Amino acid sequence: SLPKNATIIEVGPRDGLQNEGKLVKAEDKLQFITALQKAGIQEMELTSFVSPKWVPQMADAREIVAQTKKVGRQFVLTPNERGITAALEAGAQSLAVFVGVSNSFNKKNINKTTEESMAALKPLILNLKEQNVFVRACISTAFYCPFEGAVSPEATIALCRQFVDWGVDELSVADTIGMANPKESYELFAKLHEAFPNVLMTAHFHDTRRMALANITAALQAGVTRFDASAGGLGGCPFAPGATGNVATEDVVNMLHRMGVQTGIDLDLLCQAIEKIEPHVTNPVATGMYTLYKNQ
Ligand code: HMG
Ligand code: MG
Repeated sequence: SLPKNATIIEVGPRDGLQNEGKLVKAEDKLQFITALQKAGIQEMELTSFVSPKWVPQMADAREIVAQTKKVGRQFVLTPNERGITAALEAGAQSLAVFVGVSNSFNKKNINKTTEESMAALKPLILNLKEQNVFVRACISTAFYCPFEGAVSPEATIALCRQFVDWGVDELSVADTIGMANPKESYELFAKLHEAFPNVLMTAHFHDTRRMALANITAALQAGVTRFDASAGGLGGCPFAPGATGNVATEDVVNMLHRMGVQTGIDLDLLCQAIEKIEPHVTNPVATGMYTLYKNQ
């Protein structure tokens, strides 16, 4: 049976924009964020405190955090101690760390092996949990790696277990290059749901092969009620060749509502938020519910 409610974690301002070649002004990002909050988004990834040499689009992270209304849970991504310190100084209350199950991807993304990343993250996470900071762990290449191919569910679960042991509040398990199918989604999320009943379990799908909505339905059936999504379907990791946008928030919201699963998000207001960012990006905006909205 389906749940009555599900939670959308909007990742548009972070995942959606990090892959955008044209620099978007902080004020335009902030208008987008404000409009998303108005649409009923309660949890959002605002930005990331990463090297501006690696991801120039996120160089304004401090301003974005400082200027955003702290309603619900507003995450920022942080790769290392420097990012964590800067994010907390800027006023962030909820942090997201990220690591790839696959070594080759992690090297390309963070310039460390997975093991090196985990060794560096452990004391940082333990310290954050002592300070009662909400910590979300984003697990990349949980199904497939662009360099190594298929990733075993056991490897993904083992990595998740370390984070759970360190006390993280949430796992966001990602199909980085949009390659998983609904059978794989169901099987991995059923195992994760069973193994880790006491953390928030979130599914993060990219829509490269147009299987994201099917994968979300499968994860829902496996007991997952939290989904990362990006308004307008923008997104992609600059260090994962072939990765395109995240599943479009407006299409997920529409599907869930039509299935009787409530999200608290207003679809029209969500489309109005996409209208705010569309003129400022060169990457294509998703065509499902947003096109219907524009043509009505
Ligand atoms: P590095 O070059 O190995 O590290 O990069 P470094 O310590 O030598 O630093 C390089 C430069 O960056 C130095 O500056 C540092 O000071 C600076 P320089 O001395 O050359 O002028 N620096 C920083 N600046 C600002 N904030 C910081 C910071 N740290 C160092 N926190 C590093 C290592 C991790 C910094 C780099 O690899 C990096 O920034 N990577 C980020 C990659 C990224 O943002 N990827 C996208 C997010 S993850 C994702 O999209 C996946 C997800 O959506 C799930 C999924 O779909 O799979 C979450
Ligand atoms: Mg992503």
